[in-house]
Amino acid sequence: MKCYRKIVVLTGAGISAESGIRTFRASDGLWEEHKIEDVATLEGYIKNPKLVLDFYNQRREQCCLSDIKPNLAHYALAKLEREFSGDFLLVTQNIDNLHEVAGSKNVIHMHGELLRARCSHCAQVFSWSTKEMSIHDVCEHCKRQGGIRPNIVWFGEIPFALDIIYDALFDADLFIAIGTSGHVYPAAGFVDEATSAGAYTIELNLASGAQKSNFDEMILAKASISVPQLVTKLLAK
Ligand code: APR
Repeated sequence: MKCYRKIVVLTGAGISAESGIRTFRASDGLWEEHKIEDVATLEGYIKNPKLVLDFYNQRREQCCLSDIKPNLAHYALAKLEREFSGDFLLVTQNIDNLHEVAGSKNVIHMHGELLRARCSHCAQVFSWSTKEMSIHDVCEHCKRQGGIRPNIVWFGEIPFALDIIYDALFDADLFIAIGTSGHVYPAAGFVDEATSAGAYTIELNLASGAQKSNFDEMILAKASISVPQLVTKLLAK
């Protein structure tokens, strides 16, 4: 395997699937039970804030406050971050905290995080890991009620840290996408940015994603198998 110096990794729901967190677009996926416009848009929140907050309260309980644990893929990426001598950036579309629990230190949550809240009145962001979020909560910063929302990027909103991500993609010599269906932009287009920068691109998935033809290489396997194997190869250099 070639010796790489600047690696960007993008993860999606598939890396957390073996830890027991449901993905979005599988037959039993989250979007099979909820209309995206009802629970993952600002319009849905304005129309029925309780429905939206309850949806994320359930996911916070399932993903972050229960006995869900990282799997070997999460641990392998934390090892790569620790031991890789070049530049490494981990970008996740996931809102769970499994990368951090596995030891990753510098994780960009481009779609936000279940364990952080934002006040719609004053835009203050703060951690939120205990009680359920409700329309009656008061912002600890501006002391106003009724504006607390999950610090999560809903459809139609702009993902976080895109400037940092694109800078890294334009400079990368290796781009790896793990467990993402490649349906949602801008993340689905990262492979094209990396390719235009001359990077080698690898997709790790159970089945080929929507962007399969845009990757140089496809590794079809469970992430808990394929990610540790790839990390071992990358660190062997
Ligand atoms: N190992 C590797 N890949 C897996 C595994 C596994 N064990 N299990 C599932 N996958 C793959 C599926 O084949 C699929 O390609 O993970 C992908 C999951 O796709 P989605 O459910 O669409 O999740 P994701 O790509 O992360 O969605 C992107 O869409 O709904 C929005 O904001 C949401 O961040 C999410 C974004």
